[in-house]
Parts: sequence; structure tokens; C-alpha cells
Amino acid sequence: MRVSLLSSIFLVCFGNFHLAYGQSVDPKCACNMSNLWLDVVVVIDNSQSMGHDGLNEVAASIVTVFAQSNITQALGQTTRVGIVTYGESAVVHDNFSNNEKILQKYNLTAFNDTRTFIDAMGLSVAKTVLDDGRANGKRDNVQRAIIVYASHYVSQGQEKDPVQLAEQIKEDDIGIITAAFNQFGGGGVLAELAKLATPGMAFSNTNTDLVGEIQRNGLCQLNCFCPGIAWTQYTSQFGLASARRFGLCLKLGDIDAMWTAAKIACQHLDNSAYLVSEFNRAKHNFTYHFFNNMTNIPGPYIYHIGLSWDVPSQQWMWEQPANQPKIPFTNSSYAPWNPGIFL
Ligand SMILES: *[C@@H]1O[C@H](CO)[C@@H](O)[C@H](O)[C@H]1NC(C)=O
Ligand SMILES: *[C@@H]1O[C@H](CO)[C@@H](O)[C@H](O)[C@H]1NC(C)=O
Ligand SMILES: *[C@@H]1O[C@H](CO)[C@@H](O)[C@H](O)[C@H]1NC(C)=O
Ligand SMILES: *[C@@H]1O[C@H](CO)[C@@H](O)[C@H](O)[C@H]1NC(C)=O
Ligand SMILES: *[C@@H]1O[C@H](CO)[C@@H](O)[C@H](O)[C@H]1NC(C)=O
Ligand SMILES: *[C@@H]1O[C@H](CO)[C@@H](O)[C@H](O)[C@H]1NC(C)=O
Ligand SMILES: *[C@@H]1O[C@H](CO)[C@@H](O)[C@H](O)[C@H]1NC(C)=O
Ligand SMILES: *[C@@H]1O[C@H](CO)[C@@H](O)[C@H](O)[C@H]1NC(C)=O
Repeated sequence: MRVSLLSSIFLVCFGNFHLAYGQSVDPKCACNMSNLWLDVVVVIDNSQSMGHDGLNEVAASIVTVFAQSNITQALGQTTRVGIVTYGESAVVHDNFSNNEKILQKYNLTAFNDTRTFIDAMGLSVAKTVLDDGRANGKRDNVQRAIIVYASHYVSQGQEKDPVQLAEQIKEDDIGIITAAFNQFGGGGVLAELAKLATPGMAFSNTNTDLVGEIQRNGLCQLNCFCPGIAWTQYTSQFGLASARRFGLCLKLGDIDAMWTAAKIACQHLDNSAYLVSEFNRAKHNFTYHFFNNMTNIPGPYIYHIGLSWDVPSQQWMWEQPANQPKIPFTNSSYAPWNPGIFL
């Protein structure tokens, strides 16, 4: 369907990528912890403010978060977990080298409490563990994450500002998930830790489903990403860093073409690419703002969408990846389109 005038025409492609593990029929990011494909370093504040009860709770939380994950050194779609504690100083308890035994090693009560808090040190050591774990190009393509469990936050008097360090880490494409353990009810920790976290990934143990939050809204979101910089991930709101991600990637094709040629050119961009569908207002809005941002020209915008008249079934149909059946137009209630023209 040609949506409006022809002048300068762009393709908007959606590549429905097999995000991380080849099963994303549903455009929402899949969240099957057994298929998690990540390198994660858990950074634990074992200072006195966390206390033994806090540490027990943290240990239980970590074991539960990764209970279903395939934690192993074996390459492939597996997860590696490292453990760092920081109190008086940052200590590496596991640097990915002994992963098979990791679950038995979460006996955090054994760690000594101290009175000082070195947030930046914990982060910086975690970054080192992640970098060393990649020596010789090992697991170069695996996404990386740091989970910080902390009961206290100190930014002053540190050699490095934790917020600044966290920014650098995030620029390196490492996600930071924070779990605030507000042991003594003295607010503030959650908000302070949120400054370190990847937007949308600051959680607290006051949430009854902390484990679920870390899994669904933390690890699974980080596990769901678009390949390279050429593709932009479809999210619940364009330009909002904390927006929920979908298992779909967008790319603007700058090929001036008629609809059929545009459709084919789009499919050639990637095996699973197809002209964009706009099933609902949110998706249309995203595409609109994406187009606006990419072209930086004033609207109204002219681009091809994946809606066309399907002769065999005598109805309008939305494009899908090459090996999947098209979706009838009548299956979605969103239909702000002008009458179509037959090509
Ligand atoms: C998660 O993935 C595993 C391994 O691929 C599979 O056996 C299991 O059925 C999946 N679980 C769900 C809920 O899809
Ligand atoms: C874990 O991953 C390894 C390497 O890919 C694989 O051989 C093994 O079957 C997986 N284990 C489970 C329980 O999925
Ligand atoms: C955990 O560590 C404490 C202190 O070292 C010890 O008493 C306890 O037996 C350990 N628990 C387990 C399950 O290993
Ligand atoms: C904890 O550390 C302090 C100071 O380093 C030390 O005096 C104390 O004995 C340690 N406690 C345990 C249980 O190791
Ligand atoms: C991890 O630690 C072990 C023992 O502490 C060391 O032998 C190994 O080289 C380290 N591995 C990495 C990748 O840093
Ligand atoms: C459309 O997207 C923009 C940019 O993401 C957002 O600010 C706006 O609220 C959205 N509008 C609707 C109706 O969703
Ligand atoms: C919009 O485009 C600019 C310049 O091309 C880019 O730097 C920026 O990241 C884009 N904004 C979003 C939200 O993608
Ligand atoms: C379209 O809707 C019909 C009726 O609800 C359903 O049977 C069919 O599976 C849907 N088709 C697709 C491709 O989703």
C-alpha cells in the first residue's frame, strides 16, 4: 500500500532478528532464563550496613535469579557469572573461571563485614573481570551486565566518582542493574543507586518480586538487542532510554523505489527483514519519530509500509519475514489508512 505521495521515498524495514537465541516469533523480548546468553558480574556490598541478614537475602536472590540459567564455561548459548564483593576493599570471588561450582559458592555469610564502602571500586573490579573474561576474543559477541547489590551508597571521598565510572561502563555497552537493600529504612539508597543503573534497571528489595524484576526487566532486556549500529531497536517509546524493548529492529532504507521494488530491497537487507507493519498507534508513532529523527526533515513523511493487496486471498495483508505467513489487515483494529491503490 502506498501511504502517500511519491517524492523522496525511504524504506522502513523491520528485521525480526533471532535475538540471541532464535525464537522470537513474539515481538516482545523473550525471557527464558535457560537461554540467557550473557556474561554477568554480581557486585555485592558486604559492608556492615548490609549485615548478615542482608547478605543471606542477597545470596538467596542470586541463586534464584540464575536457578534456570545454563551457567558454564562451555561456549555457546550459556551464561557466565562472576562474583565481586566490596567492603573495605573489592575482592573477586569468582572471575568466570570456576563457573560450574558457582551456585555452591554463594555462601556470603562467610564474608567479613567492614565499615567502609567503596562503590566505585566494586564497579571497577567488576569491569576488569568482564574485560579479562574476554581475553583473546573469547565470547566477543556476548552482551555483558553488572548487577550491584548494595545497602549503602557513598559518592564522596572516593578516588573515582561512581556515577562517572558507571557512565563509562554503560558507554562500553555493559548494562548495570542495581538492587537496593534498604536494611535500616533510611531511604535514599534506591535513588542513589538508580544514578548508576541503566535506565529502567534500578530495583529494590522492597519490591516483593525483586528476582522477577532483575530477570525480566534487567537481564532479559539486556539479552535482547539489535545487531550493530545500523539497526535501531523498536521500543515502547522512541528516544526514551528506559522504554521497554521489543525483539524487532528498524532500519531506514534510502532507496528510491516503487512499492514492490522497495519490498524486495528490504528483504535483501537481511534474511528476516520485511517492510514495516504498523499494527497499532504506538508502533506508528515510533516509526514516525524514528523517521523524523533519521531524516531530520519536516513532515509529512512519505515511506512504504508492509501493507499490500494479496491477490490469492483477496484481502489486504501485512508483510512478515519470508518464512512466515502474512497477517491479514483485518486482524488489527488500528486502521487509519486511506483507501489503497492497486499496483
Ligand atoms: C526455555 O528454553 C528451554 C531450553 O531451550 C526449553 O526446554 C524450555 O521449554 C523453555 N521454556 C519456556 C517456558 O519456553
Ligand atoms: C548448557 O550449554 C552447553 C553448551 O552449549 C550445552 O552443551 C548444554 O547442553 C547446556 N545445558 C543445558 C542444561 O541446557
Ligand atoms: C556458610 O558460611 C558459614 C560461616 O563460614 C558457615 O558456618 C556455614 O556452614 C556455611 N553454610 C554453607 C551452606 O556452606
Ligand atoms: C573481620 O575483619 C576485622 C578487621 O579486619 C577483624 O578484626 C575480624 O577478626 C574479622 N572477623 C572475621 C569473622 O573474620
Ligand atoms: C581467574 O582467577 C584464577 C585464579 O585466581 C586465575 O588463574 C585465572 O587466570 C583468572 N582468569 C581470568 C580470566 O582472569
Ligand atoms: C509518540 O512518541 C513520542 C516520542 O517518543 C512521545 O513523546 C509521544 O508521547 C508519543 N505519542 C503517543 C500518542 O504515543
Ligand atoms: C536522532 O538522530 C541523532 C543524529 O542522527 C542521533 O544522534 C540520535 O541518537 C537520534 N536519537 C535517537 C533517540 O535515536
Ligand atoms: C487472524 O485472526 C484470525 C481470527 O482471529 C486468526 O484465526 C488468525 O490466526 C489470525 N492470523 C494471524 C496471521 O495472526
